[in-house]
Amino acid sequence: MTEQPLITTTSVTPDVDALGTWLPVPGFGVLPVNTFVIRAARPVLVDTGPAALGDAFLRALETAIDPARIAWIWLTHPDPDHVGNLAAVLDRAPRARVVTTFLGMAKMGLLGLPVDRVHLLNPGQSLDAGDRRLLAVAPPVFDAPESTGLFDPSTGTLFSADCFGALLPTAAARAADVEPETLRTGMTGWATVDAPWLHRVDRARFRESLQAVADLQPKTVLSSHLPPAVGMTDTLLRNLALAPDAPPFIGPDQAALERMLAA
Ligand SMILES: [Fe+2]
Ligand SMILES: [Fe+2]
Repeated sequence: MTEQPLITTTSVTPDVDALGTWLPVPGFGVLPVNTFVIRAARPVLVDTGPAALGDAFLRALETAIDPARIAWIWLTHPDPDHVGNLAAVLDRAPRARVVTTFLGMAKMGLLGLPVDRVHLLNPGQSLDAGDRRLLAVAPPVFDAPESTGLFDPSTGTLFSADCFGALLPTAAARAADVEPETLRTGMTGWATVDAPWLHRVDRARFRESLQAVADLQPKTVLSSHLPPAVGMTDTLLRNLALAPDAPPFIGPDQAALERMLAA
């Protein structure tokens, strides 16, 4: 039996690689966890994956790019599935600066991560990647207030942090490979897990935040928790518009956990 690789590297566009893994979520399926390498003149690594990946992440990264060339490590937010290998990458990327917000920097400090190499950037500001400028954007759905996505106007690629993620029954190489109804329920399900406040939002204001994404006209949406989605932005926005009216998520309790373990 051949073992599934822990991390798969997918060439998404000529200048973006996705380094992805799948986390099993008992009772719910699997959740993709992606990081991205942007081969700009000043290369950017978007997030660093869960710590559990350890050396496998570093090997995959080194296959995609010489870490010494990385200029920026863009932290969408310092959740454990995004900063797990940050310290190890910083060791191998002596020139890299960590792009985050003031709150992101504070949380990094609380996690014991080094904050001496941060570069603070707020939504609406942009980052110099040498041959292009990357725009910081606030995603419409998020689980942490410092969450910041980025948009590359030169390629029409949106890196959306946790937003547009999906819990899926099985792994898929591309979002387009997922059956539309499965994608819809997977996306609304994930949104209620990641953003339990969604069912309380003003629907018109939420639609405005989705319209702000539509106005960027992204051709490709690269979520931390969805397989790469090329040419599917309208579908993703339509699916997410349904999330505030999806049933709120209530996680398994101790009795349910014990039933799962017994099974
Ligand atoms: Fe998160
Ligand atoms: Fe996440």
